[in-house]
Parts: sequence; structure tokens; C-alpha cells
Amino acid sequence: MTRSSELSAVAATLVAGGKGILAADESIGTMNRRLENAGVAPTVEHRRTYRELLATTPGLADGVSGIILCDETFRQSTSDGETFPRSLSVRRILTGVKVDTGAKPLAGAPGETVTEGLDGLRERLAEYRELGAAFAKWRAVLVIGDGKPGFRARQANAHAMARYAALCQEAGIVPIVEPEVLMAGDHSAAACAAATAVTLRDFFAELEDAGVALDGIVLKPNMVVPGEDSGEVATPDQVASATVGTLRTVVPAKVAGVAFLSGGQPAAAASANLAAMQQLATPWPLTFSFGRALVDPALAAWRGDPEQVAAGQRALAHRVRCNSAALQGVYDEAVEDGRVPA
Ligand code: 13P
Repeated sequence: MTRSSELSAVAATLVAGGKGILAADESIGTMNRRLENAGVAPTVEHRRTYRELLATTPGLADGVSGIILCDETFRQSTSDGETFPRSLSVRRILTGVKVDTGAKPLAGAPGETVTEGLDGLRERLAEYRELGAAFAKWRAVLVIGDGKPGFRARQANAHAMARYAALCQEAGIVPIVEPEVLMAGDHSAAACAAATAVTLRDFFAELEDAGVALDGIVLKPNMVVPGEDSGEVATPDQVASATVGTLRTVVPAKVAGVAFLSGGQPAAAASANLAAMQQLATPWPLTFSFGRALVDPALAAWRGDPEQVAAGQRALAHRVRCNSAALQGVYDEAVEDGRVPA
């Protein structure tokens, strides 16, 4: 297999077959905050145990094609002494790794950020591949309001993203390209659609200029939703038509697949929106790459109690079943309530 056909095969696997991607790659700081909010001491061992709970959930591979880890978890081992990438590979789940080093304030663009992490990236990617990474993630963060996202933030982030994606493909790793337009704010769904469109247009221009093979990437965008403080309510059908309508105008048909982030939506809303999108025609497969909308119920059920590991795993398995049902067009209230098996 040539390197480019290997990349497109891995990208296609990530988005195919009623499966999606589990984002369990919170940075140490973010994970610590989420552990503390759940009443769990923010220790290295708790971060490891929690990720082991997620990764070893029985039947996870039925609805999850890949898991994104942060560098810390990537290098840790599960209780049986296997590294996380090896443990996932035995479970027929691809390992991904977040390789950016976070969003930092962007000079000349007050209130906006640029995602960093390009220094030494070629060498880091070679090591990650050696240790079992099949794909990687880089998240750019764009905000809406007062002329934002501005040209400078879009350009700087798009350029960094394209350099990251080109380096990934050179290393034989599928890049997940995540330009997240945040839900934070009181903007309308129409403003989100406009900001998402202009952002994606800039990102794809840079990806094309950098020679990135679009059939060897997975796009991870936000859904088009009203700002969380807007008071506006959008039904799943409205979210679906705004999101698919926006993406269809700017995302090239060659892209291997689109895997949405959840962005802070309630878990059931994210599943309902995903289900509504499946009803619409798109040139690319659509799936999920949720973090919070998959794992929040699991964290709440576990709360750091070794006796509640199975409860945490059942909570994750339920969310995976709901989202897998959404992909297969069979998600409804009965599936959400756990009354019928999907
Ligand atoms: P959420 O689904 O919680 O937005 O997380 C997805 C993700 O990977 C953010 O980078």
C-alpha cells in the first residue's frame, strides 16, 4: 500500500460503519478541572484510571473507531501493563493523539488565539507513529463577536493547521483538522453559520496550498448552533440543515469524512442533531468525535469510586449506542431512554 492510500484507508476507517471517534484528550489542566468538578482528586493516577475506564469499556469497538489521547495518557499503561495504544489495538480501536500545545493569545488580535505546537512536531510525530498512533488532532479555537473571528486569527490558525496536517501526512499519520467556532456568546445561529463558513473557507485554502491530500484528513467542525447565551432555540432539523448547508458550500467533496465535536451541547441534543444530519445528502460520511457529550455521564457515574467503574462504563456504552443509532438512522426517544437496544 502506498503512503497516500494507507492514509485514505485509515481516514475512511475512522468515519465508517456506524462508528465515531471518542475524544479523551483533554489537557492535564482541563482534565484536572473536570475531575475536581466531579469530586475526584486531580492526580496523575486518577487521570490514568479514568482513561482506562473509558478505553476498556466492553463492546466499545462496536461504535467507536478511534480514541484521541493526550500525550500523558498515550505514554501511560493500562492495569495489565500494556501501553494505551497497544491496549486499544487489541480492542480493534485506532489510537489518535492530540499534538497541539494549546491556544495562546494572538498578538494584534485582542481576545483571539492561535494554536501552537509546530516546533519539533516532525520528530514528535515520528515517535508517536513508532509508538502506535494512527491519527492525530490539532484544535484551533475561533470566537464569535465584535468582528471576530477576525482575519488575523483565521489566517494564523489556518496556516498552522495546514503545516500540522502536511507534517502528519508526511509521517503517515491521518490529521484530524479541528477548527472549532465556539458556542460561547449570545450570537444567533445565522452568525454561527457565517463564522463557520468563512473559517472553513480559509482553512481549506491553506490546506490546499500546503498540498494536503484531502482524502487523507478528517474534518472535525462545530455544528451550526445558536450561541449558548442567545436564548435562541434550534431544533435538530434546523441545526442539521444549517450545518449541512454551510458545510456543503465550503468543504470539498474529497474530504474523507466529517466528525463533529459536541462543543458543550447536552449529550442527548448532540445525538439528536447528529441523527437529523444523517437524513440529509452529503458528499462525505458524517459522524461524531465527541468529548463531553460521550464522557460526561461516565465521569459523573464513576466519581473516582473503584466500585463504580462498571457504572461509568455502562454510561459511556449508552452514549456510544445512542450516537451509533443516530448514524444508522434508528435513534429515537426509546433508544435515548435505554428502553430498546439500538
Ligand atoms: P467536545 O465534544 O467536548 O467539544 O470535545 C471535542 C474535542 O475534541 C474538543 O477539542
